[in-house]
Amino acid sequence: MKKENNVRHIILIGFMGAGKSTVGKRLAKACNRKFIDTDQKIEAETGRVISDIFAQDGEEFFRDLETELLKKLKTQQEPLVIAVGGGLPVRAINRTLLKELGTVVYLKAEVDTLEKRLQGSVTRPKLLGGNLRERILSLMEAREEFYQDAAEIVYDTDGKSLPEVVCGLREKIFP
Ligand code: S3P
Repeated sequence: MKKENNVRHIILIGFMGAGKSTVGKRLAKACNRKFIDTDQKIEAETGRVISDIFAQDGEEFFRDLETELLKKLKTQQEPLVIAVGGGLPVRAINRTLLKELGTVVYLKAEVDTLEKRLQGSVTRPKLLGGNLRERILSLMEAREEFYQDAAEIVYDTDGKSLPEVVCGLREKIFP
């Protein structure tokens, strides 16, 4: 009989620039876990950068890679901290997979904060062209319900330092 995988990972979701990778790395250290970033993993496995994947094969192809990676992570036996790309929770199948993987945390940040952090970003195809703030606002409007739907914990990061966020998250995840 196939062994059920009951490993509970910690998964960070949220908009680009919300701090998923920065917080994820520190949280992983604090919890003595390994950290995985789905964007980095996809780039390492394909040997290509995300902007090239989008440009050459399109967004849907990239989304398929994200779904495949989540399925693979389900076989991972060691509890991890996982940061996922900002658009990953938009697909319904991905939200189901995220919930199966463990505790999903939505890291929230104000639009002003996101705008400041994402200013000058050239590696994110979803932000290219047009006015940055308008892009953030329209994507956020489209995605907020999916983030809320996927998350078990919603955590507001505004006005908090990185150590405060890590400490606050640990208290929420392991009450
Ligand atoms: C995307 C977010 C990016 C990356 C890709 C698409 C999105 O990840 O997956 O550029 O659609 O929001 P980050 O949220 O880590 O920037």
